[in-house]
Amino acid sequence: MKKQNLKICVIAMASLVAVWAGSSASAAGKKRCTAQGVKVECPTQSDAVLERARESYGKEAMDMAHGKAGSTYGIAPFDYLTGVGKRTDKTTLTEGESGYGGSAGGGTGKTELWDRVKAPAKGEAIYDQWTNNWSPTFKETLVPGADPNQGKQWYYFYCIACHGWMLQGDGPVAIDLDPRPRTLVAGRYMNKKTNLELFTVIKGGGEAVSLSSSMPSWGNYLQDQDIWNVVAWIRAMQDVKSPRDLDEYLNPKSTFKPIAGDVNPLNAADNEDFMEAQELIEAEIAGRGEEMQGGKYVEGGLRERPQDVAKEVKLGN
Ligand code: HEC
Repeated sequence: MKKQNLKICVIAMASLVAVWAGSSASAAGKKRCTAQGVKVECPTQSDAVLERARESYGKEAMDMAHGKAGSTYGIAPFDYLTGVGKRTDKTTLTEGESGYGGSAGGGTGKTELWDRVKAPAKGEAIYDQWTNNWSPTFKETLVPGADPNQGKQWYYFYCIACHGWMLQGDGPVAIDLDPRPRTLVAGRYMNKKTNLELFTVIKGGGEAVSLSSSMPSWGNYLQDQDIWNVVAWIRAMQDVKSPRDLDEYLNPKSTFKPIAGDVNPLNAADNEDFMEAQELIEAEIAGRGEEMQGGKYVEGGLRERPQDVAKEVKLGN
């Protein structure tokens, strides 16, 4: 997540709103989701919650424009998305200033992160520094060979606009989507899902598991190990509520217990169901370049091999 251009993030957010806003046909209240083969109502947030989420997001955008609030990224209003106030009493921003990236581009770099760390990182490394300072860091994983810390970074980048910072299904775009984005922390539902199901819906999108295409396919953005890491992050957050204080926020307690015999990145290549599902998805995903092909580990970039991830982040629970 270090080499990403932050501008992409702004564009991604804007285009999500444009592309997915205004779909019709209500899916609320229907038993469309499946947990261990049983049809259930999909866990989503109420309209009232989602309206509030959109309003808060809009308000922060206005506040920022009027100099009342600063955004850590300079992306209005990213601070609302994160759910954590980004300014302290020590922080003074004047009109038009953003907190992101030091003084370049007119920002002062002053946010509460700057009150908490001695040396703000330079350049793109600031992304990881910032997100790590305002999110949990896991020593253990619930998915062998997958790193929830890496998954968290991808999730913040690609998923929060719809699913929300705390995975509550309350991103600012959520109210415009029908069906609504899933509440990804609903353990009574999510803990029944296999790794195969989660991996498949993230890589292939809603349609790969007979859900709505409002859940995009991420197979052309995230490589397999990235997706595994995101699955580990989702597993680490089951039934985690909105935190009451910093300690709760930084130390989430998941209710997820690994499912016996489930596929994971270490055994995926030997798992027939997994390989079959991957072939189908690969065939569906349009515009895949040579480099991105294959349902297995792909060399290159910042990716680590699952065996190495397994050495770094041990299996917990
Ligand atoms: C454009 C909005 C949007 C974005 C961005 C998005 N999702 Fe979703 N997601 C949805 C919607 C809508 C659904 C529910 C689909 C349905 O009910 O048919 C969903 C459903 C899901 C599900 C649940 C599937 C199930 O079995 O119930 C998972 C897991 C998920 N998303 C993960 C992610 C991850 C991880 C990312 C980021 C890589 C992401 N989503 C990004 C909209 C989005």
